[in-house]
Amino acid sequence: MNPIPESLEKKAQEIILRYPPEHRSAALVPVLLEAQKIVGCLSPDVEAWAAETLGVTPVRVREVISFYGMMHQKPLGKYHIMFCHNVSCSIQGAESLQDYLETKLGIKAGDVSEDGQFSIAAVECLGACGWGPVMLVGEEQFFQLTAEKIDNIIDELRQGRMPHGDTPTPLIGNVGLPTT
Ligand code: FES
Repeated sequence: MNPIPESLEKKAQEIILRYPPEHRSAALVPVLLEAQKIVGCLSPDVEAWAAETLGVTPVRVREVISFYGMMHQKPLGKYHIMFCHNVSCSIQGAESLQDYLETKLGIKAGDVSEDGQFSIAAVECLGACGWGPVMLVGEEQFFQLTAEKIDNIIDELRQGRMPHGDTPTPLIGNVGLPTT
């Protein structure tokens, strides 16, 4: 088993202290998210460590990791792009835009680029259906995507800059109803 970084051990203990001792297993999700941030992915070694640290079975840890789309067993790109392919975004053109993004980056959903900079995942609803098509890069969410908007976002990322995501606007403006 690869050693677990000391910073992760320390952070996990801090998180566990937020819960009653008899419910330390409730810290599983935040501990795993912290582990992913520090180690880069939730490898079998991290799974085993989390099970032992939180007093749960390894199967329980695997269940949680495989349930949540934001938890990953393999390393992702530096910029992980989650592209919504659910119904609302699809009818607003998400599929052809995802193809466009994949061609631009030279990878398919589920892959990591050779230089380790980008990975793409096709995901279910990102909770912003009225502003589709939608994608999430790290923690920044981008709405009403077009090929040009994707070009601008990728250009910024290639230069090492994370662009600011979009802020939801009142939906009434999107459906053309009077705003007065
Ligand atoms: S369907 Fe894409 S954000 Fe909901």
